[in-house]
Amino acid sequence: MAEERPLARVTCTAPVNIAVIKYWGKRDNDLILPINSSLSVTLHQDQLKTTTTAAASRDFAEDRLWLNGEEADVGHPRLQACLREVSALARLYGAAGEPSEQGQPSEQGQPSEQGQPSEQGQLSEVARRGSGSACRSMMGGFVQWQRGERPDGRDSIARQVAPETHWPELRVLILVVSGEKKQVGSTAGMQTSVDTSPLLKHRAEVVVPERLALMTRHIRERDFEGFGKLTMQDSNQFHATCLDTFPPIFYLNDISRQIIALAHRFNAHHGHTKVAYTFDAGPNAVIFTLADSVAEFVEVVRRSFPPAINGDRFVRGLPVGSASLPGELLAAVVTEPVPGGIQYILHTKPGPGPQLVDDPSQHLLGADGLPRRSP
Ligand code: DP6
Repeated sequence: MAEERPLARVTCTAPVNIAVIKYWGKRDNDLILPINSSLSVTLHQDQLKTTTTAAASRDFAEDRLWLNGEEADVGHPRLQACLREVSALARLYGAAGEPSEQGQPSEQGQPSEQGQPSEQGQLSEVARRGSGSACRSMMGGFVQWQRGERPDGRDSIARQVAPETHWPELRVLILVVSGEKKQVGSTAGMQTSVDTSPLLKHRAEVVVPERLALMTRHIRERDFEGFGKLTMQDSNQFHATCLDTFPPIFYLNDISRQIIALAHRFNAHHGHTKVAYTFDAGPNAVIFTLADSVAEFVEVVRRSFPPAINGDRFVRGLPVGSASLPGELLAAVVTEPVPGGIQYILHTKPGPGPQLVDDPSQHLLGADGLPRRSP
C-alpha cells in the first residue's frame, strides 16, 4: 500500500457586503479594475455567509471544485486567475504565512502613497479577480475598494474605513422581493453601461469622488441622516445609469418602487431620515436603519406587504421587538397594502471579515479531498 502523504485542509467563512457607493463599470475586464472606487458595509456572518474548504496534497492529480455539493468547472478564467494569484501569494509568504526569503511582498510594487497594503489588502486582490465587489468582503465593517491608478491593478484593493464595532446601533434589513434570477447579470450589464451611458462616465469622473469623501465622513461621524440620504441617492443614481444604458436595463420592479415610496413616506412622517434603501442588480431592497427604529419599520413593512403564507417566518435573523403603530403613522405611511409583495425580511447588522474555522469537523472536504456527505 502506498504511504499516506499529508493532506492540508483549511476551512473559512466569508461575509456578504452591500455597497452604499456603488461599483458599476470596469476599465479593465481581465484584471477586473473598476472605473470608480466604491464603499460597502460588510454584513454579519451569523445571518449570511459562505463556507469554503480548500484541500491540498501532492497526491492530487488535478484541481477540482464543488459548489453546493455539485462539481463545477475549474476552467473558468476568473477561477483560474484566483488560483494563480493564490499560488503566487503562497510562494511569496511560504507555508508559515510569513514573508519568505525569496520574495518580500514589496516586490509586488508600491501600491499607494499610504505604503504597503495589509495582508487582507493583498488577499482582496485575489478576491477581486473572482468578482469585483467580492474584494470588499475581505474586511469587516465599512470597506472602500479603491479604484487604483496602475494598469496592473496592484493598487486596486480594499481598505477598511472603520471596523464593525464602530457603529453598534446600525442595523440592516434585507427585504426579499423575488427569488427570480436577475435579468441581466452585473458583468454584462455594466459593460453595456460603460459602452453606452454618458451619465455613467460623469458619475465615475465627477460624482463618485465627491460622494466617497462625504460618505467616509458620515461614517466616521456616525451621522445616520447624512449616511442614509447619500446611500439612497447613490442607489438611485446607479439605477439611473441603468436606464441611461442602451438598450436600458431594469433591475427595480413595482415592489422595489413601492418600497422606495414607503421609505420616503416613513421618513417624511418622522421629519428626518430614519430608514435608507439601496438596491443592487435585482429587485430586493436592503434597508439601513438604527436599532431603535427596527421594530416600527418592520411593522410598517408587515402592514404594507401582508405576508401571504409564511406569516410566522416573515421576519428572520436577529430578533425584532413588537411595535404598535400610532393611527396617524398608519394613515400617513401605509397607503395601499400589497399582499405577498415581500417574501420575508432578514434582520442583520454589520459584521467582521472572513473567519478561519478551527473545528475540523466543519471541513466540507474529507481526508480523501472529496466532498463529505452533508449530515
Ligand atoms: C450592483 O461584482 O457582481 O452589486 O466584477 O463583473 O463580478 P463583476 O461584477 P459584480 O458587480 C456588483 C455590482 C453591484 C454594485 C456593488 O456591489 O458595488
